Amino acid sequence: MDFDFTTFPVLETERLTLRALNLEDTKAIFGLRTNKEVNEFIDRKTPKNLSEARAFIDLISNQAANNKGVFWVIEAKNNHQLLGTIGLRNFEDEEDYAEIGYEIHPDYQDRGYMSEAFKEILKFGFKEMNLKTFEAFTHKNNNASKALLEKHSFVFQPERTDEGFVNNVIYKLTGNN
Ligand SMILES: CC(C)(COP(=O)(O)OP(=O)(O)OC[C@H]1O[C@@H](n2cnc3c(N)ncnc32)[C@H](O)[C@@H]1OP(=O)(O)O)[C@@H](O)C(=O)NCCC(=O)NCCS
Repeated sequence: MDFDFTTFPVLETERLTLRALNLEDTKAIFGLRTNKEVNEFIDRKTPKNLSEARAFIDLISNQAANNKGVFWVIEAKNNHQLLGTIGLRNFEDEEDYAEIGYEIHPDYQDRGYMSEAFKEILKFGFKEMNLKTFEAFTHKNNNASKALLEKHSFVFQPERTDEGFVNNVIYKLTGNN
């Protein structure tokens, strides 16, 4: 993976700015990561308070500083609201690989915002990071997530399993799709 995230790559789409997470996002990130609908199909540790949300933001900033992962805030251009997040992680250099993760607040779902962000991140991954493969691990009943992945040409991998997460399915996108 040929990219140095010490200067954060801010990206723009028609309606969105994709930017770095910072401590001013603490309340919005707390709200997003503790939202029941957002977490319905995600098995993760959620922050118990704002201090834990701040610790999460620190962790994410360190990952970018160490080129271990990159995490964009999805912000609306018109009112600067934090709508959601999208990130790449678990880079594997030899395979030019990254795992993609994403979430959007229920107030902003189903308006094409995630698709718009997704398209831009895939373009950035292929062109700027020289990635060749993306994978996504998603709950088998997460129809919105599966629809998003299929819309962006990810292919279901029926023969594979996500160790430790029996309800997850794996989707993969390779560069020449
Ligand atoms: C998964 C998620 C990001 C999708 O966001 P979204 O706002 O629905 O995305 P978009 O509006 O860009 O829609 C993308 C496509 O999915 C389709 N879609 C959305 N919700 C759907 C659902 N429940 N069932 C079937 N298709 C659905 C849309 O119709 C759209 O396809 P289209 O353009 O062909 O109509 C959102 O539901 C979410 O944040 N969920 C909670 C967090 C989560 O589960 N993240 C994934 C963890 S692996």
